[in-house]
Amino acid sequence: MTGRQTLTMIKPNAVKRNLIGAILHKISEAGYVIKAMKYMHLSKAQAGEFYEIHRGKSFYEDLTTFMSSGPIVAVILEKDNAVNDYRKLIGATDPKDAEEGTIRKLYAESKSHNAVHGSDSDENAKIECDFFFSKVERF
Ligand code: CMP
Repeated sequence: MTGRQTLTMIKPNAVKRNLIGAILHKISEAGYVIKAMKYMHLSKAQAGEFYEIHRGKSFYEDLTTFMSSGPIVAVILEKDNAVNDYRKLIGATDPKDAEEGTIRKLYAESKSHNAVHGSDSDENAKIECDFFFSKVERF
């Protein structure tokens, strides 16, 4: 059985462009319930820890600099088949490859400034939800 929760971040570029409302609207329309939400500015070390899985890759330094460049919104989303359906809703990592109507096609500027993050597996969704939220911050 697939998990019912996934973790998204609205990234600094999308926050700066005032897209929080538009992105949350697309998420609600797709049937997700918000279980937890935080508006925060990650330090470079925190961004590095969140993206630990990518440490050593060519884009890791730029990724962690970008993700700590301004506030983000972190959200736990719930519905059946949460991880896979959310990946469909946001579209491919690079907006050039994303399908019409997806969040990244609509709002991303580039592969690195791609508006939103979405967990890529149930296992990582749990790790990522636990990174941002304690038990008493989930409703
Ligand atoms: P995200 O879903 O947040 O997960 C890792 C991020 O690294 C990804 O979105 C991209 O924004 C960013 N990234 C930058 N360059 C690359 C790359 N060459 N391949 C994959 N991800 C990249």
